[in-house]
Amino acid sequence: MNNGSSFVANGTPTGRIVTDDALESAANNNAVIMRVGHISKRFNRGTDCRRALCDVSLAVAQGESVAIIGGSGSGKSTLVRILLGLDSADLGTVEYRGQVVHGRRSPGWQLLRQESGLVLQNPFASLDPRWTVARSITEPLFAAGIRDRKAMAVAAESALEQVGLEPAQFMARYPIDLSGGQAQRVAIARAMVTNPALLVADEPMSAIDVVARLQILGSFTALRHARPEMALITVSHDLGVARRLAERIVVLHEGRIVESGPTVAILEHPKHDYTKCLIDAASLE
Ligand SMILES: Nc1ncnc2c1ncn2[C@@H]1O[C@H](COP(=O)(O)OP(=O)(O)OP(=O)(O)O)[C@@H](O)[C@H]1O
Ligand SMILES: [Mg+2]
Repeated sequence: MNNGSSFVANGTPTGRIVTDDALESAANNNAVIMRVGHISKRFNRGTDCRRALCDVSLAVAQGESVAIIGGSGSGKSTLVRILLGLDSADLGTVEYRGQVVHGRRSPGWQLLRQESGLVLQNPFASLDPRWTVARSITEPLFAAGIRDRKAMAVAAESALEQVGLEPAQFMARYPIDLSGGQAQRVAIARAMVTNPALLVADEPMSAIDVVARLQILGSFTALRHARPEMALITVSHDLGVARRLAERIVVLHEGRIVESGPTVAILEHPKHDYTKCLIDAASLE
């Protein structure tokens, strides 16, 4: 298992063009871990052609927490899939730790797979109903080649504790015996059991009730304290989530980044009309 830190040199990887956005993240003096440059993506070529992303550039530094916000259909999930190498862009570049992510054979793709975790909106869709919590959480360790059962159990217990679930109560349960909030925390524990350098969460709280949302926010906050070197990208349409979790906000609208900057600056002094709309809408919730 790789904790990721051995690959990072101090400062920006050499020989790279530093975009404005990369400079923004480099402001916290950490190395850029993930960078996408001038990404464009269309679906359904021909007459029913939809542009999901247009000229999107973004860089995320080691240990940084970035929220991608935007309305339904703005391209957030498409961007996440491209960021993680799960889908390819029509145009543009994706780099992880300075290595190109382009197809499964590229070194950047393999490194990214080893070092990243993903949490999706619906935890029940991402947990196998036939597997106990213990098996779900240890499976990524098994996939990473670890066979020491005791070490796997210890790592799984520690991951559960970090998301606020008591291992003795939860390890033997099946997904059907979990509430939505508990299932999402199990999904988070599974995503971070391999100690990823990058955790990406796509709308992790939108399928969950208000009380459980607070618990999940608490789990992410605890994780960030426990693992300050881990970068976190959270996709949300909920500005409250961005306010609580992110140092920087990127606003997507119709496939373009219309605004990005420090969380407080964006929320208190939004420049773009669409961001103002999102903030006004949030105040009605
Ligand atoms: N596989 C696909 N085939 C065709 N169109 C797609 C596909 N995936 C996404 N799209 C389209 O691309 C656009 C962006 O979709 P995407 O899922 O990235 O939005 P989103 O911001 O994640 O929305 P939501 O908040 O509803 O999850 C939408 O117009 C969507 O219909
Ligand atoms: Mg989405």
